[in-house]
Amino acid sequence: MRLTVIGTGYLGVTHAACMAELGHEVLGVDVDPDKLAALRSGEVPFHEPGLPELLARHTASGRLRFTDSYAEAAAFGEVHFVCVGTPQRQGSDAADLRQVDAAFALLARRASPGALVVGKSTVPVGTAERLAQTHADSVEIAWNPEFLREGFAVRDTLRPDRLVLGVRSARAEDLLRTVYEPLIAAGTPVVTADFPTAELVKTAANAFLATKISFINAMAEVCEATGADVSVLAEAIGHDDRIGRKFLRAGAGFGGGCLPKDIRAFAHRADELGVSLGFLREVDAINMRRRDRIVELARELCAGTVLGRRVAVLGAAFKPDSDDIRDSPALNVAARLRLDGAEVTVYDPQAMDNARKAYPLLGYALSAQEAVRGADVVLHLTEWPQFRELDPDQLRSLVRQPRMVDGRGVLDGAAWAAAGWDFRALGRPRPGGEGRDQ
Ligand code: UDX
Repeated sequence: MRLTVIGTGYLGVTHAACMAELGHEVLGVDVDPDKLAALRSGEVPFHEPGLPELLARHTASGRLRFTDSYAEAAAFGEVHFVCVGTPQRQGSDAADLRQVDAAFALLARRASPGALVVGKSTVPVGTAERLAQTHADSVEIAWNPEFLREGFAVRDTLRPDRLVLGVRSARAEDLLRTVYEPLIAAGTPVVTADFPTAELVKTAANAFLATKISFINAMAEVCEATGADVSVLAEAIGHDDRIGRKFLRAGAGFGGGCLPKDIRAFAHRADELGVSLGFLREVDAINMRRRDRIVELARELCAGTVLGRRVAVLGAAFKPDSDDIRDSPALNVAARLRLDGAEVTVYDPQAMDNARKAYPLLGYALSAQEAVRGADVVLHLTEWPQFRELDPDQLRSLVRQPRMVDGRGVLDGAAWAAAGWDFRALGRPRPGGEGRDQ
């Protein structure tokens, strides 16, 4: 089929390349000339395993092309996927829908009769209905939310857990089933739904995941007050398969371009609808308190003040296997410590360029070893596998004071303590210590 993908951000590039991989002719559309130039030369403007190979293969074969022309896209596509961003609105928790509205308006005006315009962006419930009414005379609309995780975006698109098709006609459903035919043939479950349900599947899934993380982080707070160990607690409750072990890693909490803004937008939308989702505000508050706790622990370890102290921060990306620093707990903590007068040096295996651009006043090092040199305290804030391999003895010879805060709960505290480190982890007792003062 001939498909267009509007918006070449994270979701758009992944969707476009994966649809080409499924055998479709795909035209990607964006207004940013720099992005288009990079994509045309096969360059992915962010870190995503497997995506550069797909992009190179399909731009070379001509099955995947890019344009800045809506007129060309409208003339080309039988099905158009809208994959533009829905960031948090400035000064409000609500989602900013300007890019979505503009994409639908630009396409609807030009699309050929019978074209299907499919929203994939995460939007407040009610958006699809509003767009369908606005553009009723020109195009048919469907909603087909995405669920991809950064770092696994290609896998999540080519082997999704489920496909959710928010459709109003058998024809729209048939078209989408044809687009995804190879995935459906491979056994991917398909859930068809009305518009509000399809929109809600995405927001509800993200709200549930965020709640799970904040739940275990709230338990970490209780563990800190009682000397209990949140990692053992998570393992034990996770054996109950109604609870499950996934998304129960306590630590610095969630960040990124989705969970934080999506739960805020969801709570905001619920208020508009007269439904209280106040618990999502608590989920957000617990998440932010974990960052406060790390700042507080760094201060405690430096005898009450970080003023003039050297702080090494291991990690800048909001999670490993990503160079995305949006709402990153690591950089948020780093920036706050710098404001408190610390000299902060950051190292991340992938996110250095993005971090430097967004936080030019922080110090940067080219390796973990260089970052910790002369440090008074080291903070481990993104769980890159290579940080787990760090040798506590070697690092001890580089720092000024062997003090480590494990903000991700994955380092072997006993080994670090045995190498002479004052080791603290969120929600876990001090190795060999009395626990309660954590
Ligand atoms: C998320 C959803 O998982 C995905 O389905 C949706 O489409 C977009 O938002 P993503 O933002 O890529 O994906 O990251 P995810 O892997 O969900 O992690 C989110 C954050 O939670 C990260 O900062 C991660 O470090 C943190 N996290 C995750 C925890 O703190 N503990 C956990 O147990 C799991």
